[in-house]
Amino acid sequence: MNFQEINPSPRTLMCPGPVEADPRVLRAMGAHILGQFDPEFTGLMAETQEMARRVFQTKNHQTYTVDTTSRGGLETVLTAAICPGDKVLIPAFGRFGYLLSEILERCGAEITLLEREWGTVFEPEEIEAELKKGGYKAVACIHGETSTSMMQPLEEIGKLCKKYDALLIVDTVATLGGVDIRVDEWGLDACIAGTQKCISAPSGSALITYDKKIEDIIAKRKKVEKGIRTADDVDGSLPMIPSNYLDLAQLQDYWSPRHLNHHTEATSMQYAVHEALRCIMLEGLEERFKRHNLNDKALCAGLQAMGITIFGDLKHKMPVVTAINIPEGIDGPTLRGQLLDYFGIEVATSFGPLDGKIIRIGNMGYSSQKRNILFTLGALEAVLLQNGVKVPAGDGVAAAMEVYKNAK
Ligand SMILES: Cc1ncc(COP(=O)(O)O)c(C=O)c1O
Repeated sequence: MNFQEINPSPRTLMCPGPVEADPRVLRAMGAHILGQFDPEFTGLMAETQEMARRVFQTKNHQTYTVDTTSRGGLETVLTAAICPGDKVLIPAFGRFGYLLSEILERCGAEITLLEREWGTVFEPEEIEAELKKGGYKAVACIHGETSTSMMQPLEEIGKLCKKYDALLIVDTVATLGGVDIRVDEWGLDACIAGTQKCISAPSGSALITYDKKIEDIIAKRKKVEKGIRTADDVDGSLPMIPSNYLDLAQLQDYWSPRHLNHHTEATSMQYAVHEALRCIMLEGLEERFKRHNLNDKALCAGLQAMGITIFGDLKHKMPVVTAINIPEGIDGPTLRGQLLDYFGIEVATSFGPLDGKIIRIGNMGYSSQKRNILFTLGALEAVLLQNGVKVPAGDGVAAAMEVYKNAK
């Protein structure tokens, strides 16, 4: 049998993840493998932690990565911080809010689900009304809900959680590295992020950060494996964390100066995360947020000039994802299929109540570039015209170019 060497077609990834990895990240992944306890490698891990703290804007000592996708990162933190029977409030405004609920149900949490129409976000009063009832151990919510393109303001929720003595655990999977997130200032007790979105590395690692309150819970749930435990490793007083692979107590020790043996670290993925974070440091957080905002503004101006309507409450739209209402005269699969076939551009479909109604366009990380925005607008126009949808030819790209010109 003649198996071919891997040679993927070039793509412009304008979906809300995965996006194009920075070429520097891909190059870093080709570096020699180091042993996971090699001081050269543990030195890199320490640098990754420090750079991740800067991106999360936190002083949390416990800031590191887990070898899993973002969903696994959510599961790792929630499984450790939430014990069976703990009351957790989930304000859900899209698919990923329900994912939190799925995970927490498996943790044995007592869940209260607040639901909202997709395309909107919660007002702090709605959350306070529930927290007032008392007894909540935590609020778990999504920052950037990629399924709807909505972004939940967190600052007020942070204050409420402090007032009612509840932990605030946030999925910042899609926003970290593209949007301003102030973990300490906003009072977020834990945040989980992915690498394949605004961080611009491949999927396969989750960045996490958590504060002393969560560290204390983890300490009480600690149980070091029999084969490696020492006389100093005493079991905690709370129920042990039910996952071995995602056991935050042992992972924390692995990332500590003790470097307790747990899993075999994914060396090449560590190189990727290190390089991706270094690229963010080089660009600067402010510059990076500005770049995403400008590209978002140009994209939206272009879409609107074409007569395309943007879905949802525009005041709360993520700058890194835009959902458009699929114009009459074309369906979602045709639109996405032709963008991919003719132009090599990938945009995304949607889920649940929005399936078949909207298309989601990402503007994340390395993919968030002027040429990608203009290329996507031009390609979209061509596909719509090909299918008989009346759009004013040339207006979309021209409006976006105007935004770039005025930004100079
Ligand atoms: C907001 C949000 N949370 C969680 C996830 C799950 O991430 P992963 O597919 O990396 O497990 C996604 C993926 O798209 C997401 O957009």
